[in-house]
Amino acid sequence: MPSLEQRTPKSIIRFSEDVNIGLGRLGFMSLKISVIGLGYLGATHCVAMSKLGHTVIGIEPNQAKIDSLKSGHAGFFEPGLDEELAKQIASGRLTFQSSHDEGSRDVDVHFICVGTPQKDGSLAADTSYLHSAIKDLAPYLSKDAVVAGKSTVPVGTAALLTIELTNLAGFAPNLAWNPEFLREGTALEDSLNPDRLVVGVTNQHSEDKLREVFAPMISSGIPFIVTDLATAELVKAAANAFLATKISFINAMAEIAEVSGADATQLATAIGYDERIGNKFLRNGVGFGGGCLPKDIRALMARAEELGVGQSVAYLKEIDKINIRRRDRVIDMLTQELGTLKGKKVLVLGAAFKPDSDDVRDSPALEIASLIQGAGATAVVHDPIALSGVNKKHPELTTQQDLMKAFDGVDAVVLATEWQEYRQLDPATVSGVANKLIIDGRNVLDIAKWQQAGFKVLALGKTIKN
Ligand code: UGA
Repeated sequence: MPSLEQRTPKSIIRFSEDVNIGLGRLGFMSLKISVIGLGYLGATHCVAMSKLGHTVIGIEPNQAKIDSLKSGHAGFFEPGLDEELAKQIASGRLTFQSSHDEGSRDVDVHFICVGTPQKDGSLAADTSYLHSAIKDLAPYLSKDAVVAGKSTVPVGTAALLTIELTNLAGFAPNLAWNPEFLREGTALEDSLNPDRLVVGVTNQHSEDKLREVFAPMISSGIPFIVTDLATAELVKAAANAFLATKISFINAMAEIAEVSGADATQLATAIGYDERIGNKFLRNGVGFGGGCLPKDIRALMARAEELGVGQSVAYLKEIDKINIRRRDRVIDMLTQELGTLKGKKVLVLGAAFKPDSDDVRDSPALEIASLIQGAGATAVVHDPIALSGVNKKHPELTTQQDLMKAFDGVDAVVLATEWQEYRQLDPATVSGVANKLIIDGRNVLDIAKWQQAGFKVLALGKTIKN
């Protein structure tokens, strides 16, 4: 079994816009790589691998996605990614196709990046896309190739896939797990400059190949941690569970702050100075959303239950509940201020689950808007870029692209996603509201400025004198 290895702390490497690291130039080996599944993770990974100097084939059955990628559009908003995508395509190293062909036979490493969404009607993750990817790959898999899963999976999945692939391919594959820790909004930077690389392997060959893939990053000092398959799978689930726990912890403190006159933002700053606690992921507000944290804590609970140790992470149920309660709290505050929401008009600033993203999956902003609408008010939603996905999920909501028009006749405003545009908005330029009330759901507004413009300002986790 490979040992757990920790490298020296990373020095910062910068992969500049114009200069590829150029594996050959630096004496590293350029490999042939396939990336299977071209959503957020896969599309970003293709670009990162090509940027490192590898030859990359992106594979994805959805032809529309392939066409879009070929034309230099990732198909989602990620700052800087489309520019880099176009550059890598132009380099000749990055190509896309809708299925495997003979070219897959001499691929050194196949990265599997398909989605593992929450199953309908269950807390568990749906791993069906992984099984399809393995089935499609098997006829083209060579004995030396490494298959490295990057998707977030229930612990034990890689072992199952190994059996499945052995049966399909007729030999024992080099299956590895290499979880990804990128955040939307900083995806490429996170891929190329991660805090650590984690690879779960079952043989030396897989470890060696993955070391070759990431050679420039390892040589720059990024810690390269080698584990077994189960540990690598669990590292990712554990990291996301920890992050979710931090956010819900501070939001739980916010609940206490709200009834005791304390200020949760100051509290976070104060405890965050303790290096053992740290100040990251301690921003209180309407809570976490997106395609990862909510579904990953649920999948971890489901998997622990299956393994007979449900109690170990039963506390995550409370983490989930605290998170959901923050959304309800906004409705309570609105009701308290407006008497009733029936017949009122409320502007929700933000649709994306966080700024610099057009992802509206499990977005706190959209759930708040939907709850407002459900309480008998009209919820108007504004977002600088994420509006197109809103009505697919919430046809009941009204969207408004023009920020100034969005304020027209509203009885209250809720800032739910902390876009720079909202933080910088001069409240003196806002006109036409029926009632000057704003709830800062992310604790980012300059309260005095909004008050000077005549607004009553409320925020989560603190009591504001108006
Ligand atoms: C998250 C993890 O941060 C990544 O490390 C991981 O790779 C990724 O999931 C994944 O599993 O693929 P992401 O979903 O892009 O990344 O977004 P985060 O930056 O983690 O934010 C998640 C949510 O938490 C957002 O809704 C954000 O507004 C909220 N948040 C974040 C807070 O409410 N408070 C904070 O202090 C930080």
